[in-house]
Amino acid sequence: MMPEKNCSRCKLSEFRTKIVMPDGNPDSDVVFVGEAPGENEDLTGRPFVGKSGKLLERFMEEEGLKRAELLITNTVKCRPPGNRDPTKEEMDACRPFLEHELSGRKVIVGLGKSACRSLIGYEGKMSEIVNKEMTININGKDSIFIPTYHPAACIYNNNSKSELKRTMRIIKERYM
Ligand code: URA
Repeated sequence: MMPEKNCSRCKLSEFRTKIVMPDGNPDSDVVFVGEAPGENEDLTGRPFVGKSGKLLERFMEEEGLKRAELLITNTVKCRPPGNRDPTKEEMDACRPFLEHELSGRKVIVGLGKSACRSLIGYEGKMSEIVNKEMTININGKDSIFIPTYHPAACIYNNNSKSELKRTMRIIKERYM
């Protein structure tokens, strides 16, 4: 299930240039879920191609993962104006597409607060749950869910950075 080219299920459709669909290996056992497209993503139609994407790729590569082997997506497929957080209504409107992308995967990595809010309804601090693996059920199928920091949260925070790198190591060592 994919959004129509002219999808208008939520208000974000009024602002977008391009719908940003998942990128990478469609058969990957492991999927990374970010927050929402930013400016570069909106212009190119690809997730994580801006500054956050460069960081994400660097952390992957430093731990021996290749971006192209994995699947990368977002909670919503259209850019929120001014890069604000997507609202619950917008995430709900986009959920059928996200569920289709995630259902039956072995591991789902939630990058940051919006992904954790969308996927496990978590509203607390990331530090309380980072890298604590849990099981979630999407459309009748269980997956392992790993909450971690968003790459943008790691720019000036070495603790977040080492936790996100630890996530990459967990993926490489246990799930690839
Ligand atoms: N780019 C994306 O595609 N998602 C984010 O969460 C941040 C940047």
